[in-house]
Amino acid sequence: MDAKTGKPSNPNTTGTLTVGNKNYDFPIYKGTIGPDVVDIAKLYGESGMFTYDPGFTSTASCESQITYIDGDEGILLYRGYPIEQLAEHGDFLETCYLLLYGELPTPAQKADFDYRVNRHTMVHEQMSRFFQGFRRDAHPMAVMVGSVGALSAFYHDSTDISDPHQRMIASIRMIAKSPTLAAMAYKYSVGQPFVYPKNDLDYASNFLRMCFAVPTEEYKANPVLARAMDRIFILHADHEQNASTSTVRLAGSSGANPFACIAAGCACLWGPAHGGANEAALNMLGEIGRPERIPEFVKRAKDKNDSFRLMGFGHRVYKNYDPRAKIMQKTCHEVLNELGIKDDPLLDVAMELEKVALHDEYFLEKKLYPNIDFYSGITLKAMGFPTTMFTVLFALARTVGWIAQWKEMIEDPKQKIGRPRQLYTGAERRDYVEISRRK
Ligand code: SDX
Repeated sequence: MDAKTGKPSNPNTTGTLTVGNKNYDFPIYKGTIGPDVVDIAKLYGESGMFTYDPGFTSTASCESQITYIDGDEGILLYRGYPIEQLAEHGDFLETCYLLLYGELPTPAQKADFDYRVNRHTMVHEQMSRFFQGFRRDAHPMAVMVGSVGALSAFYHDSTDISDPHQRMIASIRMIAKSPTLAAMAYKYSVGQPFVYPKNDLDYASNFLRMCFAVPTEEYKANPVLARAMDRIFILHADHEQNASTSTVRLAGSSGANPFACIAAGCACLWGPAHGGANEAALNMLGEIGRPERIPEFVKRAKDKNDSFRLMGFGHRVYKNYDPRAKIMQKTCHEVLNELGIKDDPLLDVAMELEKVALHDEYFLEKKLYPNIDFYSGITLKAMGFPTTMFTVLFALARTVGWIAQWKEMIEDPKQKIGRPRQLYTGAERRDYVEISRRK
């Protein structure tokens, strides 16, 4: 990026758009890897036309250096490091440091970062009263959206987005408090007392303890499950400009405080086409029930007149196997083995459904492969989480991605408020008709 102009590095070439008998030239920028982009910022000023790309299937909304996805090759890199290596060798807080600072931490930097996160794991005591306002049967995602947004009512000393120190404090607070809020949402839904964080535990063990410990007995997280939980957080940490991250960036472009922006991202993630798919995928596997019923559901998924879709399949970017799904599948088997769950009927359906779909002409032609949500539900259910908590866990992990992308946008000299235009096909100008004269 050119520090002075704030534009991406000098354009490498120009592209020409011809409309009628007029030619319009636009700069083309080349990234480190991945598709080049055509900078069409001047298009409206020069031609009076907008581009039109509902769903942004061919639109780059920003320049970023955080995460790279190659959908055709099934590649996912966090700051250049393959997700497979980070999930295998590192831990979630190391991934948080990498996403926020851009480099893997030295041992001293990692120790300092872990310490700083641990200093912020508690939430303001008054927040526990805030929870009392929710119905006990509220969906935990409704509680999560509400309580994350409420953080801006408690932490005024880290909402000045122009202050780099406050931006980093807010980032650390979000990473540290999202497990505490997620666990409180779960405890509130099952009518058990909140469990305070214990800072001598690692991030994932601390979270599992806040969810599953009860005052009546000692609780020690199973290390295999804690490692699986930590790896699941790594897999979900960031994913380029997905719907919820784009929501956070758009909210942040107006200058809204970071807690409000993360709450907006949480709300967007809840949709079944996005982060809500893990809950929907497990419910779908339950509805299918047994392998013999798979053909009936595959038929429905292909039927244009049926809105049913195979949840956990397909992806806007991955037209190959989601690399996270492979790691998720391996983690699923590890967790089931550790828990001695030999024949999970949901897993049998999932494995058979994957086999059928990966050999079906329709899915091959449309390049529909299992995505991260296909195996996560089975794993989380085996770990003891109700399906209503699955998207909350996704939100917990994605918080670092949202905050890293938000921070990158705020620190980008060329960022301005996001304000898309439209193709208007409504009524032309017409005069008001008094109600007495309407037929
Ligand atoms: C996540 O963007 C991200 O990075 C998201 C995410 C992240 O980490 O942030 O990776 C997390 O959201 C993963 C995706 C979870 N969603 C689901 O599993 C829900 C089921 N999948 C679909 O709803 C769908 O695949 C989407 C929403 C994920 C992607 O939709 P697109 O890119 O808009 O593709 P599309 O809906 O236009 O589908 C293309 C074709 C269509 O058929 P045609 O109109 O071309 O005939 O494929 C079909 C669709 O009908 N199709 C499916 C299908 N997904 C797409 N058919 C059956 N079952 C499916 N799951």
